[in-house]
Amino acid sequence: MKKNYFIALVMSILMIAPTMAQNKKLGNETDEQKAKRLEWWTDARFGMFIHWGLYALPARHEWVKNNERMTTEQYEKYFELFNPDLYNPKEWARKAKQAGMKYAVITSKHHEGFCLFDSKYTDYKATNTPIKKDLIKEFVEAFRAEGLKVGFYYSLIDWHHPDFTIDRCHPQRVSTKEEYDKLNEGKDFKKYREYLHNQVRELLTNYGKIDIIWYDFSYPGENGKGNEDWGSKELLAMTRKLQPGIMVDNRLDLGEYEDGQDFTTPEQEKVEKWPELFGKKFAWETCQTFSGSWGYHRDETSWKDTKQLLVLLIETVSKGGNLLLNVGPTARGDFDYRADEALENIGKWMSHNSPSIYFCTEAPEEYKAPESTLLTYNPKTKRLYVHLLDYPLGKLRLPGYKGKVKYAQFLHDNSEIRFRESGDNVELSLPVLKPNYEIPVIELILN
Ligand code: GLC
Repeated sequence: MKKNYFIALVMSILMIAPTMAQNKKLGNETDEQKAKRLEWWTDARFGMFIHWGLYALPARHEWVKNNERMTTEQYEKYFELFNPDLYNPKEWARKAKQAGMKYAVITSKHHEGFCLFDSKYTDYKATNTPIKKDLIKEFVEAFRAEGLKVGFYYSLIDWHHPDFTIDRCHPQRVSTKEEYDKLNEGKDFKKYREYLHNQVRELLTNYGKIDIIWYDFSYPGENGKGNEDWGSKELLAMTRKLQPGIMVDNRLDLGEYEDGQDFTTPEQEKVEKWPELFGKKFAWETCQTFSGSWGYHRDETSWKDTKQLLVLLIETVSKGGNLLLNVGPTARGDFDYRADEALENIGKWMSHNSPSIYFCTEAPEEYKAPESTLLTYNPKTKRLYVHLLDYPLGKLRLPGYKGKVKYAQFLHDNSEIRFRESGDNVELSLPVLKPNYEIPVIELILN
């Protein structure tokens, strides 16, 4: 082979290799097909996360067993006492809907290993506690009846199963390899993996159409667990086979495959911009709590106020994402009064301003957000929404909007907002009296 030829060949391989690596896929769905499959969810934008389990009894974080290094024997009292007599998922569904949420994801099993559903592979389940009910079955029926989509969170981690090997995230964690080896003697992780797959099969077979599965979580590396441990590829294949169309989160540790997840899940964090993966804007959903805990936490006081929650929602949509906002029901089975209040306040705003959320996304780049505002955009109606985080006095200048605005009005009452063009800008004349909504929204009908 001529030398130049050889160099050219090597060069082209070097150039193609990274793109090939980027496009590693497990299936053959196209971007368009995926967008279609996710459409209900990207249209919905807002869902409810529900963290509920035995940890509602100690009421000091869903990781309490871990944080306090409790043994399974010490934790047993919560299993014996679990009796949520006020559980009424119809009420939950009504509250979610009233707040403007379009779907809900509930913990079918959290890290503690306790199952809210009736699984034939374990005794550690709600049907064996004083409440004696398959709580998931009632949940699914109630939420569907309200027209909400239904998702299951399922913890890959299990601090109760005897064959789940003790690792660095476990309540009984230790420090040296020798100690781990000793503790894990006789445990057969293969059996746990089988258990996990069996339970997921039950969840995706026994409850009708499931719209989302939310696996949680992987921590590969030393004394950790990742895709090999869970059998993630097989699990994902089974998931998609049992529930075609289902959406899957990104915590199976299959991030090297473009379709190893449908969406990413920045947790309790504010993203700077629309997250990108594989060189493109990727579907994303941020999960957030009202306060600092997912499970019911009686003494936690860092609750976000209504404005913070609304900003969270609007800002998420302004960057093309979804918000999954968490409620941690109490051990009696209802929502804490602070969660109720927060949901009501969000609902009040959503009742008149939701068109700036549903079906909306990031605004086209040519529209810059004026100071103290957030923009969202509905690509179908081509309407632009300006959210006023600090209500301005009298005037609002839209920089560079000249020639772009046909009509302006408040979203909550369709009342006209007069404007004029000056230089490159559009200047809106706002009433001095702030509309009676925490964050007023201006709807711009564009040329
Ligand atoms: C976490 C935590 C957890 C919570 C979840 C929600 O990784 O382990 O308790 O369920 O994320 O995103």
